[in-house]
Amino acid sequence: MRKAAIATLAILFVIASCTKKSAPAGGTASIDGAAIFSKHCARCHGAQGVKDSRTPNLQTIAISRDQMINSITNGKDHMPAWKDKLSTAQISALADLIAGWHKK
Ligand code: HEC
Repeated sequence: MRKAAIATLAILFVIASCTKKSAPAGGTASIDGAAIFSKHCARCHGAQGVKDSRTPNLQTIAISRDQMINSITNGKDHMPAWKDKLSTAQISALADLIAGWHKK
């Protein structure tokens, strides 16, 4: 009886960890970088990537798209890491959004 309970728990744990890692439904095309930014990033960075002296101006920051992805994924100093909350496709959409601001 006890063994069965442990086995059930083990199976549930495996299912839970698989579900957590899978990317949200919908292809890259349906990912709206601006919506993700206003939901997760604007509170620190401002609606358009510019807020105050605590966060860098994302409209003018001189970093490559690769570095943006790296910093968003793994965090940087006071900036939290997003790899457990956002999919790589969502992070990529955010880097596109920020890179797009640079071209304006
Ligand atoms: C809790 C506040 C906070 C939130 C939420 C936050 N950031 Fe940041 N972010 C910061 C701070 C602080 C820095 C400056 C880090 C440093 O260079 O010391 C930063 C830096 C950055 C940088 C520059 C990284 C570099 O390599 O110089 C980018 C790009 C960025 N944030 C994007 C985002 C995106 C996209 C989101 C939403 C997914 C986000 N941030 C959410 C606080 C935040």
